[in-house]
Amino acid sequence: EQAGKGEYDHFMLKEIHEQPTALAQAIEGRIDPTNGRIALEDFPPGTFDGVENVQLIACGTSYHAALYGSLALNQAGIRATALLANEYSVTAPPVDDETLVIAVTQSGETADTLSALRQATDAGADTLTVTNVVGSTAAREADDTLFIRAGPEIGVAATKTFSSQAVMLTLLAQRIAADSRGAPPADLQSLLPDLAQMPGQLEDLLATDDAATIARQYQGSQSYFFIGRGLGYPVALEGALKFKEITYEHAEGFASGELKHGPLALVTPDTPVFAVFTGEEDEKTLKNAEEAQTRGAPVIAVCPEGHRAVEVADEHLEIPASDAELAGLLANVQLQLVSYHAAALLDRPIDKPRNLAKSVTVE
Ligand code: G6P
Repeated sequence: EQAGKGEYDHFMLKEIHEQPTALAQAIEGRIDPTNGRIALEDFPPGTFDGVENVQLIACGTSYHAALYGSLALNQAGIRATALLANEYSVTAPPVDDETLVIAVTQSGETADTLSALRQATDAGADTLTVTNVVGSTAAREADDTLFIRAGPEIGVAATKTFSSQAVMLTLLAQRIAADSRGAPPADLQSLLPDLAQMPGQLEDLLATDDAATIARQYQGSQSYFFIGRGLGYPVALEGALKFKEITYEHAEGFASGELKHGPLALVTPDTPVFAVFTGEEDEKTLKNAEEAQTRGAPVIAVCPEGHRAVEVADEHLEIPASDAELAGLLANVQLQLVSYHAAALLDRPIDKPRNLAKSVTVE
């Protein structure tokens, strides 16, 4: 087992560090070099003609990627909703022949997700799976499959598969919008160069040790809160999920603007608040973070250098400057590192947290 971890103490840390390669692999050959448009090789032109409505179904970390994808689709002008697969049997919105249902599942074997996928198929929806495992049940059962090509992920807490899912869903959103609307959304031209830079930016980010310093500084806090807006919201949820999964400490993620509608009652000097800035109404998020700061909570701003939040926050976790569609994913990698180092300080069994399984095959 140690051999498989290479120079790293845990598979999770190894997999966090594999993200530049995983992303490069995910993107390779999927952008048409002749016109810079998203080709996604398995989908001939017009595959998504007539798609007006997308439902994304998933659990756990994949649900956060699905939420990210649903927001990217909405921003690209396509109606989309992310739904917890385990709720789908009781709360599924109606499907029609303009509905595409996308199962997001790194393993392709999660029982809740397979059950929702089958329900959507029975209801007559077109289906697509976004997965990491070739030959998985979800890949076999859906009409189409988009492989994220992240390579094997051993750590129970998903890291590189989340990033690859979110990036592939961002590309897919552009492609669905292009097929369905007849032209790619206007932001494609700024997205593609930033996407090409992302593996290199991640290498730089992974060479820093600020996340370890922050983890040490706030060790022993009562609770850890994560806030974000827009595409930063699923990142806040994922930051908190990762933290609780491997540290066993209490952590919660909120939409920044929701903090004042209840969770603020929990905020004290003993509850650090990680604020994710993606360039989407950052001034409002900063105001929300300051409300927590006024109650004594230390604020850790996850944002590029030179951002106004750096002056206001107590601490700064730096991310490279990027398109709003990708900034949250860079922030997420910093938060993965914070969780990892916090769990390592507590000597937790990071790769196999208690009570959790890599893939849950019961409903
Ligand atoms: C389990 C794992 C989570 C994972 C979820 C969904 O609960 O512990 O890390 O996010 O299953 O897995 P999937 O394979 O469907 O992405």
